Amino acid sequence: MSAPPPHLSLAPMEGVVDWIMRDTLTRLGGIDQCTTEFIRVTQYLHSEIVFRKFCPELRMNSRTPAGTPVFVQLLGGQPEPLARNAERAARMGAAGIDLNFGCPAKTVNRHDGGASLLKCPDRVLQIVKAVRAAVPATTPVTVKIRLGFDDPNACFDNALAAEEGGASSLTVHCRTRTDGYKPPAHWEWMPKIREKVKLPLVANGEIWNRADLERCREVSGCDRFMIGRGAIANPFVFQDLRGWRPAQAPLWTDVKPLIPGFFAACTDHINDHFATSRTKQWLRALSTKNQEAKELFDGVKTYRKPREFQSELERRLLS
Ligand SMILES: Cc1cc2nc3c(=O)[nH]c(=O)nc-3n(C[C@H](O)[C@H](O)[C@H](O)COP(=O)(O)O)c2cc1C
Repeated sequence: MSAPPPHLSLAPMEGVVDWIMRDTLTRLGGIDQCTTEFIRVTQYLHSEIVFRKFCPELRMNSRTPAGTPVFVQLLGGQPEPLARNAERAARMGAAGIDLNFGCPAKTVNRHDGGASLLKCPDRVLQIVKAVRAAVPATTPVTVKIRLGFDDPNACFDNALAAEEGGASSLTVHCRTRTDGYKPPAHWEWMPKIREKVKLPLVANGEIWNRADLERCREVSGCDRFMIGRGAIANPFVFQDLRGWRPAQAPLWTDVKPLIPGFFAACTDHINDHFATSRTKQWLRALSTKNQEAKELFDGVKTYRKPREFQSELERRLLS
């Protein structure tokens, strides 16, 4: 019997996966769910403007124009403010609330948020519980963790905390904070976590292509996966993972037409400086998997003025 189709989500990535990137990628198909970049919560209740800035899709029933649900991700250390902010996001129509306990950034960890909370599973429990109680039962509350701060064994107590708090699913970036982004991702912890909890598990980390997905499925025993950098390096990765694209399909031919539209959307909705830096960022990521993208990136990366960047970009894309 063949394996059921996987549930595939696009990972939250601060400074990379904003609504323009979500729109660009979800139009290509194959993505079941997205999550916003994290919204930092201290003691205050964010205004609706802040939620709409991170998640303009809230105006569209919390879906991208292609119809993919978008969860709002919150990051913080205090149950009560997180609950109040979650309640507001849910009232504004968020498809779900995702709680970030994986962020490795030093400033975030110093200020009591992200992966540092993995050292205190009881605090994870209190946060999940408070958020779960604050939003309607119809709004899923999901949790994203790393294996631990420095000790991967922390994943067990944190998974139990997520489950006891009432989380609908648990995504595990299969590395500790200390591991950073150093390959490999340790998918082998997922079956051990499954021995402790019943909630659905989502495997995350180092899925770049179909072979990785198959290995991850085998090792982790999961049928839900989250993909981050692999989707930026190859926007068609979700189609590849689902076996929708022939293995030899020429990637650059399909990616090239996306770039002018991405630059234009960034210009229209933010400004041309933003468009220039985000397009360079994307080309750099595309370069890691594609020689033509690398040539384009090398040809345009030194152009700093948006007008000059754009005209060189267009010239090279047309040639
Ligand atoms: C630039 C960047 C920004 C990220 N921002 C977030 C974030 O806002 N929230 C979050 O939970 N994880 C964030 N992550 C972690 C990713 O969601 C994901 O867990 C990680 O990249 C591993 O998956 P991958 O190997 O498929 O990229 C970020 C990762 C990167 C590289």
